[in-house]
Amino acid sequence: MGVALDLQHINKSFGSLRALSDLSFSIDEQTITILMGPNGSGKTTLINVISGFYKPDSGKVIYRGKDITALAPHKIYRAGIARTFQIPALFLKLTILENLLVARKDAKGEGFGRSLFKRLWIDDEREGSEEAFRVLDMVGLSNMWDKSASVLSGGQMKLLEIGRALMSGAQTVLLDEPISGVNPTLAHDIFAKLVTLRNNYGITFFVIEHRLDIALGYVDKVVAMAFGKFLVAGTAQEVVSDKRVVESYLGG
Ligand SMILES: Nc1ncnc2c1ncn2[C@@H]1O[C@H](COP(=O)(O)OP(=O)(O)O)[C@@H](O)[C@H]1O
Ligand SMILES: [Mg+2]
Repeated sequence: MGVALDLQHINKSFGSLRALSDLSFSIDEQTITILMGPNGSGKTTLINVISGFYKPDSGKVIYRGKDITALAPHKIYRAGIARTFQIPALFLKLTILENLLVARKDAKGEGFGRSLFKRLWIDDEREGSEEAFRVLDMVGLSNMWDKSASVLSGGQMKLLEIGRALMSGAQTVLLDEPISGVNPTLAHDIFAKLVTLRNNYGITFFVIEHRLDIALGYVDKVVAMAFGKFLVAGTAQEVVSDKRVVESYLGG
């Protein structure tokens, strides 16, 4: 299996704070990789670097063999890497379906001049709706398609966020704490969905999560970091029993 993302010697500071320090590791295609680490260890910063929202001070992000470090966020998105945010960025006044259609527009860009060609435009709208209903099926929200996004529970909002990421046709999805604040039953559902999406669609997931009790049963690989530094990578069992990982949580 190939490498989806190869992170090479990434450094990122905010003033005198070294948020990421010579961070290197890789994420295999079609796997679910968890990134764990205490609060403030740089996990969200790393997702911001991969998705282009922050530029690293040095180091490289290689996606499927291509250096994407210098690309703008929308170019990285169109290259096939989508992300969710720690706090869902949904349009609460729109319906669930509309939230997906907007994400698709973002992914395709408005620069096609398609609206000049009515026939193409109609085809595109139809294609978009079909795609949206397919994604709704994938994340299990089909029966709520016409409801306002504001009626969703916290866990369902996380699912819709994942759906929005999938609308771009992304092959790699970065999730920032997809089950935080979600009840255990739905949290298990969400991880089971990720497994299905990996198996059926070959999607690669890189997931920040510290509720390991729930997540560990579903993941292929775990990467642990602390204080902006890589600690260890391996199977769930290897990583949670690693002395450095245990200490990083105890040391505070
Ligand atoms: N935009 C920013 N400006 C200044 N400091 C930041 C910024 N983003 C993150 N940090 C700091 O970088 C460190 C890592 O933060 P973050 O990546 O959010 O950690 P985590 O997601 O692991 O909890 C923290 O000390 C945080 O305060
Ligand atoms: Mg974070």
